[in-house]
Amino acid sequence: MKIIGTGSALPRKVVTNEDLTRFLDTSDEWIASRTGIRSRRVITDERLEDLATEAAEKALAEAGIAAADLDYILCSNIANYYVTPGLSCVVAGRIGAACPAVDINCACPGFLYAMDIAEAFFKTGRVRNVLIICAEEATRMLDWTDRSTCILFGDGAGAAVFAPGDNIKGVRMDCQPDVNTLYECRKLNHTPFLTKEEKDVPLQMNGREVFKFAVSTAVRDIESLLAEAGLTTDDIQYFMIHQANLRIIEAIRKRLGAPEEKFPSHVADHGNASSASCAILLDECNRKGLFKRGDKLIFSAFGAGLLSGAILMEW
Ligand code: ACO
Repeated sequence: MKIIGTGSALPRKVVTNEDLTRFLDTSDEWIASRTGIRSRRVITDERLEDLATEAAEKALAEAGIAAADLDYILCSNIANYYVTPGLSCVVAGRIGAACPAVDINCACPGFLYAMDIAEAFFKTGRVRNVLIICAEEATRMLDWTDRSTCILFGDGAGAAVFAPGDNIKGVRMDCQPDVNTLYECRKLNHTPFLTKEEKDVPLQMNGREVFKFAVSTAVRDIESLLAEAGLTTDDIQYFMIHQANLRIIEAIRKRLGAPEEKFPSHVADHGNASSASCAILLDECNRKGLFKRGDKLIFSAFGAGLLSGAILMEW
């Protein structure tokens, strides 16, 4: 498959580190030096489906196809207002699509998991146009009194339209099952038969473990893709790394020994928007005209699961 259109949408509200100091014992200096984040976009009066719809419509417009031409919609999302139907169905209705639509919950590497699934559909010959949407409101999964987690996240949506092509040159997906390092729990409705205790648990994270996992798996995944393709970092024009935080991206970059200009980043003013991060970054780079036909890009993402993935793609 190949990408024929991209789009993204961000919430209007900008929350700076300074804003956070009004209700948290933290500082701009602490947050910026540990994470590279200065501000983030936070959802307020928008609904996530509004952002997802806007991103999808921009991607369709660039692709030059109508929603009615879509054969499949895949949506990466952890949480939104609707438990059911899936966000993919909500957006399908909003854009006027009438094709199968399915949600996947793969946390931060969701865009890569969706691409892996879409590529398999293309290989069967069942589809000609696939829309992937990644839409996340991570800031609503947080305890805003927990300064070790709430400083990291932002919200947003990214989308891409795919058509038949031969541009995916390597895929490596992985799961190292570990629920305790990064999770959120939601209390479901009570029933007359329920005897076990349940409560909502906002996002919990062992930051140091996530850091180690992120850097080691990204480097491992990228190096294995390069080896399989017989390439080196010099052959790659851009490394599209999940925008978790700048120190993680920097650590990966240094271990790979590649120059800074090959690592586009928006985490400083977007925060970490989970699976939407890579999709938004893709759209921003595309609209800036950063990519030339034939450029080689490596996407790498990691997150709850613990899931990880890397994809080598030609533009
Ligand atoms: N402001 C001020 N102080 C803080 C803050 C804050 N926002 N948060 C924590 N601290 C304090 C802690 O309480 C602790 O104080 P103590 O020494 O008195 O106990 C001290 O700072 C050090 O805390 P650590 O957690 O050890 O800090 P660390 O240097 O590990 O940095 C961080 C924490 C930034 C979370 C780091 O571990 C990290 O970047 N981890 C990766 C996490 C990540 O990116 N997750 C994203 C979600 S998952 C994903 O997308 C892959």
